[in-house]
Amino acid sequence: MIPDGVRRTALERGEAGRAWLAGLPERLDRLRDRWALSFDEVYGNGTAALVLRVRTADRPAVLKLAAPGTGFGRQLRTLAAARGRGYVRLHAYDLSEHAALLEPLGSALAATRLPVPRRLDVLAETLHEAWQVPVRAEPGPGKAEQLSHLLQSLWARLGEPCSPELIAEALSAAADRAAAHRPEGSVVCHGDPHPGNALAVASPRPGAHTGYVLVDPAGVVAEPAYDLGVAVARTDPHRVLAAPAPADLVRADCARLAASCGVDPEAVWAWARTERVASGLYLLRFGHPALGRAYLAAAEAVRRDRRPASRPVTARRT
Ligand SMILES: Nc1ncnc2c1ncn2[C@@H]1O[C@H](COP(=O)(O)OP(=O)(O)O)[C@@H](O)[C@H]1O
Ligand SMILES: [Mg+2]
Repeated sequence: MIPDGVRRTALERGEAGRAWLAGLPERLDRLRDRWALSFDEVYGNGTAALVLRVRTADRPAVLKLAAPGTGFGRQLRTLAAARGRGYVRLHAYDLSEHAALLEPLGSALAATRLPVPRRLDVLAETLHEAWQVPVRAEPGPGKAEQLSHLLQSLWARLGEPCSPELIAEALSAAADRAAAHRPEGSVVCHGDPHPGNALAVASPRPGAHTGYVLVDPAGVVAEPAYDLGVAVARTDPHRVLAAPAPADLVRADCARLAASCGVDPEAVWAWARTERVASGLYLLRFGHPALGRAYLAAAEAVRRDRRPASRPVTARRT
């Protein structure tokens, strides 16, 4: 009953992940008793958590059991603080059990026939609502520094799976955002706003004016442009690869989101460049090699498209 992706994520976490998998049946028993649940189906598409449709004594709900080492504490804090604004409602939780009882939602934005730019519009509007979560000051390195570290360590550890030029460009974009960092411009970002993490609400409600809310937040403190850059970076890499001018396509995505949220398109573009490479390496590292390679290929296509030599020089008419 455990989806392959969840099993893989847990096993990548070593001993803690194996223990979590082995303890799941007993954990489910405990939670069933504690919250008076009856279990229905398991969602097959989870990657970092076992997610089940359940019923409490008086209503349908969703039970999420997160694998260890997946930032679940921060996720719970974000959902609790959001109180349903832009996010799924949190009915109950138990951090020691890595468990949350959530509002039941419908199908994902990813399952609609909306073209990518329209999906980006919905994500932007939903994020706008979600960014109202109160910010808590956090010590330690900011998101740009974390990404720089991740890029360098994963690139070396994975045997340099993309060109040094691509890594250098991703690092330089991260350094630009680190230099531009202003604490007062930070919000609690979702951190992974892709159309699979935006689910339809069952019926209209306050805090869900787009008809969608976000699940699965990382809850990182950063500028709003970070979330928009991630949204761009997490669009289908095959669409970027198929585009006649990949950089122009990505620029247009960035401009669209930036305009909708009133942020600097250059900031969105810089985060998108960093994040597409970081996501590619992360996917390679955590058991999704085909998708990881596609992300890196898309990032290379965007980079090459930006080289002046690849553009035909047209004479200007006088
Ligand atoms: N509240 C919810 N209502 C309905 N389905 C949900 C809900 N939360 C998660 N799901 C389903 O479970 C899947 C995985 O959940 P998610 O929280 O995104 O975890 P992860 O991506 O880390 O595995 C989602 O893609 C969705 O299909
Ligand atoms: Mg998810």
